[in-house]
Amino acid sequence: MRITIPKKMLIGSFMIIFMVLVVSVFSVSTIYQLNRISEGLVFRNDTIKSQGKKLQELVLSMQESEKKLVLLKDEEYHQVFTDSAEEFGMTLGSLRRLVTDADVAEIIEKTGGLFGTYQYIFRNAISEGGDESIRRLESVSPLNEDLVDRIIASVDEALLVNEKNIHASLSQLETKGATAEKIAVVISGLSIVIGVLIYFYLSRTITRPIQLLDRATHHVSEGEFDHQVPIDSQDEFGALARSFNEMGARLKELDELKSDFISLVSHELRTPLSVMREAVSLLKDEILGKIGEKQREFLGILSQEVERMILFVNELLDLSRLEAGRLPIEKLPLDVKEVIEKNLTKIKPLLLEKRIEAEVALSPHLPLVLADGIRVDQVLTNLIDNAIKFTPSGGKICIIADVSDGRGGEDGRQAKSSKGNQKYVRVTVCDNGEGIKDDEKRYIFDKFYQARAGKSGKAKGSGLGLSISKRIVEAHGGNIWFTSSPDEGTFFHFTLPTQK
Ligand SMILES: Nc1ncnc2c1ncn2[C@@H]1O[C@H](COP(=O)(O)OP(=O)(O)OP(=O)(O)O)[C@@H](O)[C@H]1O
Ligand SMILES: [Mg+2]
Repeated sequence: MRITIPKKMLIGSFMIIFMVLVVSVFSVSTIYQLNRISEGLVFRNDTIKSQGKKLQELVLSMQESEKKLVLLKDEEYHQVFTDSAEEFGMTLGSLRRLVTDADVAEIIEKTGGLFGTYQYIFRNAISEGGDESIRRLESVSPLNEDLVDRIIASVDEALLVNEKNIHASLSQLETKGATAEKIAVVISGLSIVIGVLIYFYLSRTITRPIQLLDRATHHVSEGEFDHQVPIDSQDEFGALARSFNEMGARLKELDELKSDFISLVSHELRTPLSVMREAVSLLKDEILGKIGEKQREFLGILSQEVERMILFVNELLDLSRLEAGRLPIEKLPLDVKEVIEKNLTKIKPLLLEKRIEAEVALSPHLPLVLADGIRVDQVLTNLIDNAIKFTPSGGKICIIADVSDGRGGEDGRQAKSSKGNQKYVRVTVCDNGEGIKDDEKRYIFDKFYQARAGKSGKAKGSGLGLSISKRIVEAHGGNIWFTSSPDEGTFFHFTLPTQK
């Protein structure tokens, strides 16, 4: 099932609301129940107390009526006795219904029995009528007095036991209240934990995909079109990730198509350009007949332009081969010192022409590197060519070679840790030219990128040199990086792993 982000947030919020409701309902219902029970207990206790007192008053009134009957021999007191006895019976009945505790009920029953005996003795004595009944009543009077005392004592006992029971029930209620309080605290704690978990789950389902997409965007911007976003969720982020991955695949296809096209075009251009170079050379050397000064001048320009075209086409071809991993790189033991010295011979006329001084510092015990000589020469030529190109007449360049413990690239982006104890030869080409502006530094290794024309005007070249150099150095397991400022000029460094 597809659970969207709003649905996830809705479910999360509902869970939190549900937990809060559970805590509230539990607390409110427990408080209500406890209140009801304690109110019931207090009411019952009060009623039982008043009914007990009433029983005691009634039995005393019966005793008084009995005494007055004996003393005054007035039949009216017989009636008062009977009325009190009837009310006593009714009160006792309502007390029986009110009492729920077995021990109190037992005492009430005992009281009822004593009352029954008292009533029986009275009725029995009075049944004869006339003076005889008064006399018999007088004779049982001590017995009746004792019975009344026992009834009063029995009611007192019932009230006492009832009071004790009520106290016991109230302390039980207190324990229940404390337990309910603990349960409410535990449920509240659980709710907080669940709430926090829901928060983390939701924020993770949102922030993690954003981080992954951000990383993937960075990879794609670096040209790694086949970088996949590993999100397989069924929500909006999953859909976005699938579209992103499809876009990456499409970009890769287009990039391959473009590389193939460039490779094909440059390949096809190479042969006619070589033919043109040969033809110009034949014409210039007057093999096909004599030429005049004007023709020689034009042929010179033509020759220069054809050379430039051939260089450009070769660079294009190299780059597309490097991108496709099809440029043959033959790694053999190589003396970097030799490559540098050959290059120095090559650039001597250029240095003289621009009155640029070259400072060379080569470490005396430079180890051999494992590299393709032609490709290393290509990198070095481009770096030296750039240094001369972007340094005004009378400037200075330097070429340094020494040993380094790691691949280098201290500026962070190019930095990668070295493997074990692998040593590297580090070559530095520097100049005190115009430098590279901060906002252009990140594009310098991009294909076709040429910084905005500085003091030296529009630079000659195609902007492919550094892009090719970077790929060549990395294909050897080395690194290339630079530092540059307008005041100090530019320092390009590259490393190559030494032979073990
Ligand atoms: N030493 C340097 N000083 C100042 N800017 C430089 C230096 N080296 C390179 N750059 C800048 O970097 C850009 C790219 O250099 P890159 O070598 O790739 O291309 P290019 O020299 O212009 O052309 P190509 O090398 O293909 O003939 C240059 O156009 C220049 O703006
Ligand atoms: Mg260049």
